[in-house]
Amino acid sequence: MSELIDLAALPHDFAWGTATSAYQIEGAVAEDGRSPSIWDTFSHTPGKIDNDDHGDVACDHYHRWREDIALMKQLGTNAYRLSLAWPRIAPGGEGPPTPKGLDFYDQLIDGLLEAGITPSVTLYHWDLPQVLQDRGGWPERETAEHFAAYASLAAERFGDRVTQWATLNEPLCSAWIGHLEGRMAPGLTDLNAAVRASYHLLLGHGLATQAIRAAAPGAQIGIVNNLSTVEPASDRPEDVAAARRVDGHTNRWWLDPVHGRGFPADMLEVYGVELPERAGDLATIAQPLDWLGLNYYFPAVVSDDPAGPAPHAHQVRRESVPRTGMDWEIDASGIETLLLRLTNEYGARKLYVTENGSSYPDVVRPDGTIDDPERTDYLVRHLAACASAARKGAPLAGYYAWSLLDNFEWAYGYDKRFGLVHVDYETQRRTVKGSGLRYADIIRGHQGRVSRAA
Ligand code: IFM
Repeated sequence: MSELIDLAALPHDFAWGTATSAYQIEGAVAEDGRSPSIWDTFSHTPGKIDNDDHGDVACDHYHRWREDIALMKQLGTNAYRLSLAWPRIAPGGEGPPTPKGLDFYDQLIDGLLEAGITPSVTLYHWDLPQVLQDRGGWPERETAEHFAAYASLAAERFGDRVTQWATLNEPLCSAWIGHLEGRMAPGLTDLNAAVRASYHLLLGHGLATQAIRAAAPGAQIGIVNNLSTVEPASDRPEDVAAARRVDGHTNRWWLDPVHGRGFPADMLEVYGVELPERAGDLATIAQPLDWLGLNYYFPAVVSDDPAGPAPHAHQVRRESVPRTGMDWEIDASGIETLLLRLTNEYGARKLYVTENGSSYPDVVRPDGTIDDPERTDYLVRHLAACASAARKGAPLAGYYAWSLLDNFEWAYGYDKRFGLVHVDYETQRRTVKGSGLRYADIIRGHQGRVSRAA
């Protein structure tokens, strides 16, 4: 199976990584001065999360990070994508940082570098300090300004060792799922708030990009979007138009403004919400970027739904198509299509797959091992599609498997497992799964090829 992957198409210095995010793994939510985030509030609101799970302990990474770095080494990875918890660094949302919060990330970053693993740091993976939510959150402009101040603080502190920075992870989820669909924190269902949040997230991205560059010259800065290929469920004109709207909602709304194209006019019409725009904002949002991050999981196949919320379309369930344990369709060709779209349509000069992975209900065998052929198959097929995109000219510089560890899968709690490493939440015991062993094999295969060529 691994022979499917054209390793020769990948650059010699390819980043082979895994990814996680702070709230999903750290735990220690009330330690060392950390303040609550919107996810602490949301997950402790009864009925919001399956099994009423929350991130209070999660994978206890805050205390077990050394063991987790050892696991990354065992997998043979040379890169790791982590996020900083804003409420751990600046508990007031603005104002002075907490020394212990900064110390935690200092140690983690130093530990990674000592292990020969390059950290790629994301500033915002959805854990807004609750104090800022109480003042209105992302629908308010001041949140974007506070975000830039926090970015500056982080870049000043860590910029001597971290070169790889991402501003936002999947702003689509923060804006659309958090403010329009209500399935994620802060749990609103308000189109006006959602559009304003999307605007200020992108403004925050631009301001933070400027702040990082000022504090850490030489930083390589990108943004991470979760994009989907979008197909109409039929060739009915209504479904074709719905697919165009979903493409706008999912892809173009997030890509066009950062590429200096402004917000898509067709979507402004669909939303019918006036943007809180001030002179100069569009240029701020369109700061030049060093790289783009693609998170890819599943394709969208949609049909028209005039009565539904914007963008008035719904995902169609195709029974014949294989699906993961999330009930998400599997289509590895989508990752290739999107990498090529970012290359050809948006002129990307450097791309990373910043997340890709699958959840299945794992079974721990009596001898403690975990064989996960479906996750392994998903991994290999998607890596093969990435290599194929690289062969066709996509400037792909790295791949970060989601995720290093099983972790808190947001509204789905702990039942959905995406890790290459299994976590027993009772004991916090970590066990590398079959997919993790296969990933290590693939990495070794690429590195062997690189050293033979040297
Ligand atoms: O777990 C999430 C992650 O936080 C963001 N991207 C998608 C993953 C799987 O749902």
